[in-house]
Amino acid sequence: MNLLKPQVNPPLWLLAELTYRCPLQCPYCSNPLDFARQGKELTTEQWIDVFKQARAMGAVQLGFSGGEPLVRKDLPELIRAARDLGFYTNLITSGIGLTEKKIDAFAEAGLDHIQISFQASDETLNAALAGSQKAFQTKLAMAKAVKAHGYPMVLNFVLHRHNIDQTDRIIDLSIELEADDVELATCQFYGWAQLNREGLLPTRDQIARAEAVVQRYREAMTTSGNLANLLFVTPDYYEERPKGCMGGWGAIFLSVTPEGMALPCHSARQLPIAFPSVLEHSLQEIWYESFGFNKYRGFDWMPEPCRSCDEKDRDFGGCRCQAWMLTGNADNTDPVCGKSPHHGKILAAREQANCTNIQINQLQFRNRVNSQLIFKG
Ligand code: FES
Repeated sequence: MNLLKPQVNPPLWLLAELTYRCPLQCPYCSNPLDFARQGKELTTEQWIDVFKQARAMGAVQLGFSGGEPLVRKDLPELIRAARDLGFYTNLITSGIGLTEKKIDAFAEAGLDHIQISFQASDETLNAALAGSQKAFQTKLAMAKAVKAHGYPMVLNFVLHRHNIDQTDRIIDLSIELEADDVELATCQFYGWAQLNREGLLPTRDQIARAEAVVQRYREAMTTSGNLANLLFVTPDYYEERPKGCMGGWGAIFLSVTPEGMALPCHSARQLPIAFPSVLEHSLQEIWYESFGFNKYRGFDWMPEPCRSCDEKDRDFGGCRCQAWMLTGNADNTDPVCGKSPHHGKILAAREQANCTNIQINQLQFRNRVNSQLIFKG
């Protein structure tokens, strides 16, 4: 057994999940299923203290996300504090609640980058997924305003079996809105997406068609000189090797939940591990010494087939959260891996995607399930 402790570098990327509150209801939301029962949100001062500690440790990038981070009234103050500390700041938003005035305030506070998510390329499908009739028009207006303020803009579309066949129209819309980067990110199955997986996982044929469309647009854009950057992320359910989730457990990424729980990835709170709170421990202690952050660092924790695999320093045995969700044991090899004894679960999900006929209105929507709890606290 290798008894050398893995070298631990400081976190580079801090994700501040400011709130789980959100006016939309997306059935693939990555928030925990019981998000509405979580504790009180950190105060402005508590968040700024977290930023200071993370920056002092060496973190350089700070993402504001949620839920919908715009529901936090102190967002300009948080952005300003982060920028004054020297972070590169990124706002990850649905655009709902954004106004020209807020964009001005964020620009004045020094915000570097805005990412707006869309549910679809047309109003009807967008409304069916987001649960808001006004959302699409608001997003369009805000995407235009973001560009008018000179921000580099990322448009993010979560793709699944109900919208992936619109990939051409989604790209057309992104070009029209002058997006600098377009993320066509096929659903990753965590939180509400895992709950709705059967109704969301595209078929392999759908993915192949979408990939061909993206390739066609990339070639046309190269010819025309219109250089919007198209990123197409396929679901790992159609891979034979797992993703190197988070660049490795506790390697570069640190997430803090609305009530202050520190996590090595945004989905880890579901694991049977007592993750530490920033209200009780310094980030330094949490990152370097806590049980949770050390649990899956290095290679010694790995079972076979990962332990003797020559790809383990690339994929780290895959995603711990996925191993937990699909096998009930987070120590196991991610079932996405073709070498995993649990790979049959992935094959069965692919098979199911070919037969299922679940419609959008049969999905479980986060705010409908948690409606009575959403805006408390
Ligand atoms: Fe938690 Fe992959 S999402 S380790």
